[in-house]
Amino acid sequence: MQSPNQSIKPITTQINSAGNLEIGGCDLVELADKYGTPLYVFDETTIRAMTSAYKEAFKSYPKMKMMFAAKAFMTKAICKIMEQEEFGLDLCSGGEIYTAFTSGFDMSKTLFNGNNKSYEDINLALECGVGTISADNFFELALINQIAVSKNIIVRILLRITPGIECHTHEYIQTGHLDSKFGFDLTQIDNAIELITDEYKNLNLVGLHAHIGSQIFEKKVYFDEVEVIFKELKRLKDKYILNLHEVNLGGGLGIKYTEKDKPISVYDIAETIIDSIKINSEKYGIEEPSVFIEPGRSIIGTAGVTLYTAGSSKQVPKGRKYQAVDGGMSDNARPSLYQAEYTVQIANNPEADNTEKVTIAGKHCESGDILAKDILLPEIQEGDILCFYTTGAYGYSMSSNYNRILKPAAVLVNNGKSDIIINRQTYEQLCESDIIPDSLNR
Ligand SMILES: Cc1ncc(COP(=O)(O)O)c(C=O)c1O
Repeated sequence: MQSPNQSIKPITTQINSAGNLEIGGCDLVELADKYGTPLYVFDETTIRAMTSAYKEAFKSYPKMKMMFAAKAFMTKAICKIMEQEEFGLDLCSGGEIYTAFTSGFDMSKTLFNGNNKSYEDINLALECGVGTISADNFFELALINQIAVSKNIIVRILLRITPGIECHTHEYIQTGHLDSKFGFDLTQIDNAIELITDEYKNLNLVGLHAHIGSQIFEKKVYFDEVEVIFKELKRLKDKYILNLHEVNLGGGLGIKYTEKDKPISVYDIAETIIDSIKINSEKYGIEEPSVFIEPGRSIIGTAGVTLYTAGSSKQVPKGRKYQAVDGGMSDNARPSLYQAEYTVQIANNPEADNTEKVTIAGKHCESGDILAKDILLPEIQEGDILCFYTTGAYGYSMSSNYNRILKPAAVLVNNGKSDIIINRQTYEQLCESDIIPDSLNR
């Protein structure tokens, strides 16, 4: 069965009677006019279709629990949707914890991840009632225990491990291979467990956690990941009489950015994971554990698009044609960070034939600020609204103020209604943390 991550466009995308692109029943040209550009637009129907697909796909394994990896895109409104969809949250910073907490999210359903959690981060996590912390390294084990002792509490933890599985994705988004900055190497697990058992009495180790990478198109890596973890569970059970009953497999399911991408459906991935759980629990003689997954990109990526207004253009004599837009690497770092590719349409002219090869450039003072290189589009006119599909994940969440360009607004669309979920930043907000020291006020 198909799932929304296999489509480039949000599932409600269509051309309306005005001849414009429409998502969630809202005309994209009207949205651009009302809220300005650049604008992130999120389709609620696509988000919920994807969370529903995950729940449906895994329903034959009742001990399966879903968390949304908030790093892909997080606002208080998204926290509300995830709560309604009965997803937990995978959080990776003090800021994400604070956002979830202040949105009213049930914090017992959250996991705190990351490879360098500070005293302040861990303290905030515990103050806000984060359910579980994934301990990434020896430094963190000691720190979490020290803070737990000072508060006289027991903290539920997972051990983040690097299972040694290489998936074929961009090296910046591979995480489960041995030479990774994340997690305990398999050879370090015993040492960690002995420290927890003998010294860190305020840590309650409940299971193992891994995440092998992002934008994954292969099923086998998930099968193998389960096997590596279950083999470890068996080894730890035999060696330490330790019954770890929770496993977190991370996220990673890929999405379709361009026609070249062939992501698998969530139903296929679920079948593989569940098969591997059944086969490997029998093989290693362990009780079937609670299994968590924490997808980010596949939940929110397809649901989001970015709208830009076309501005200046330049034809290099005997070279490329550049079309500049009013945003770029500060609202979407992915193309300059890892050569990400996108599918683009002109929202006010979606049916015109593609007649020219063009490179869409951002407005930042950086040659590498290219949003889409050598793509085929109809001839673009100044003022056209360009719609970049599949920008929902790691787009806004990686945005910056490079060149002191303001962060864009984001709206949620559904049934012909649009609601702001992030206001466009203002120049006042941009400068509110700036201080001119007295010594300079001469
Ligand atoms: C620990 C962890 N879990 C989940 C995710 C989400 O991955 P994805 O967005 O590919 O599903 C990430 C992404 O980097 C991660 O680091």
